[in-house]
Amino acid sequence: MTSKSQIWKCNVCGNIIEILHEGADSLVCCKQPMVLQEEKIEEEGTEKHKPVIEGNKVKIGSIPHPMTEEHFIEWIEVFPAEGRSLKVFLKPGDIPEITACFTPTSARAYCNVHGLWKS
Ligand SMILES: [Fe+2]
Repeated sequence: MTSKSQIWKCNVCGNIIEILHEGADSLVCCKQPMVLQEEKIEEEGTEKHKPVIEGNKVKIGSIPHPMTEEHFIEWIEVFPAEGRSLKVFLKPGDIPEITACFTPTSARAYCNVHGLWKS
């Protein structure tokens, strides 16, 4: 079974989808199974990806993540409470942070090179 809010990617065409309603985990795109994007919680490598929550502000990450055409944070999602979320899409050149009108209890971010990260 899939579960709500999972992120799946097609490694052929690059489609990325989010589960809004649970069903069988047999998602197919370009005639191949889609790949579940695991939420990474431990930093690896030199670039930092884990969302840092400071009051209403969420930064990616402890050292600002690159925001170049080739490598950037595509979106940040913040969760004020169970069952609620706010997703903000970013583009190259943006600052990898957002300020919400609430204090998030958790956050996740998607890097176009390194995938999905959560804190
Ligand atoms: Fe990255």
